[in-house]
Amino acid sequence: MSYARILATGSYLPEKALTNHDLEKIVDTTDEWITDRTGIKKRHIAAEGQTTCDLAEAAARDAIETANIKATDIDLIIVATTTPDRIFPSTACLLQERLDIHGCAAFDVQAVCTGFVYALSVAEKFIKTGEAKTALVVGAETLSRIINWEDRTTCVLFGDGAGAVILQESDEPGILSTHLHADGKYKELLTVPAGVSEHPELFAQGKAKITMLGNEVFKMAVNTLGRIVDETLAKNNMQKSDIDWLVPHQANIRIIQATAKKLKMGMDNVVVTVHEHGNTSAASIPLALDVAVKSNCIKRGEILLLEAFGGGFTWGSALLKY
Ligand code: UT7
Repeated sequence: MSYARILATGSYLPEKALTNHDLEKIVDTTDEWITDRTGIKKRHIAAEGQTTCDLAEAAARDAIETANIKATDIDLIIVATTTPDRIFPSTACLLQERLDIHGCAAFDVQAVCTGFVYALSVAEKFIKTGEAKTALVVGAETLSRIINWEDRTTCVLFGDGAGAVILQESDEPGILSTHLHADGKYKELLTVPAGVSEHPELFAQGKAKITMLGNEVFKMAVNTLGRIVDETLAKNNMQKSDIDWLVPHQANIRIIQATAKKLKMGMDNVVVTVHEHGNTSAASIPLALDVAVKSNCIKRGEILLLEAFGGGFTWGSALLKY
């Protein structure tokens, strides 16, 4: 049986870092409040003119170099993003051109903070069915472009960045299972309530910005992520103790701690980057994964549980042998 296995990871963060103290000068907030309620200390912000594809390209090149493959070996490109460069072509097509790859399938996946898990799951299916052999899967965001910088309840949370993996066909176990879910009835709790078709006037005026009922989202996230842990373990006949690393979406340290507690896992086995990156939506899991791999925390053969929750609502998990 053939598997889809992560060959290498890559990431990129924009140079500019915005600290909590910087935010104190912009909105009525404090470093203490942000740290206590979210765990975030700083986030990175794309430079003027720097686009999601720029971030995606840097992360992709890092992953390609680490994998020691040629860009032309890639026969599938999926970019998970909520902040594409253009309405069309997709950021994946823009990335394909940058990498001088021509002809292979390339498309974006939009599942907000769960986007990378969705993209990984789709890429795995292409590989398992023989439709692709080497996939580039990227999560990339310039969320700073859709932040309302006057709204202290949201602007302190998000950041920009990109992470990438090269997923390749292998006889050795890689991705063991993925689990994707959504429920659109929660669409108003976390949304940008305007776009090119709905309220195009707000979009045209640059007023299409993130709104969130944080407290409601928080409660749903904790409960839902607890359930998906059970679903993932049951599907694989595994025990909590079989998981070596939790690589969660980085939205809030308190949500991450709650999931770790559910897994009876010490925080030493949880990859945490939220303090450094903030919430980078679709980029957060591949960014966290790359940090943990490059710092030699995660090692070959270990079992990883990736999980995410976000706008839609969408939620999902991936269990894999690294
Ligand atoms: O990635 C997709 C999923 N997203 C998430 O998972 C985010 C989920 N939500 C959260 O992480 C948390 O709900 C937040 C961090 C957004 C908020 O934390 P909270 O503990 O739920 O706070 P809250 O919304 O209940 O607000 C508590 C108080 C309020 O003041 P009052 O009404 O008690 O007087 C807010 O106005 O904190 C106030 N507040 C702030 N104060 C200082 C809200 N934002 C700020 C701020 N600085 N930045």
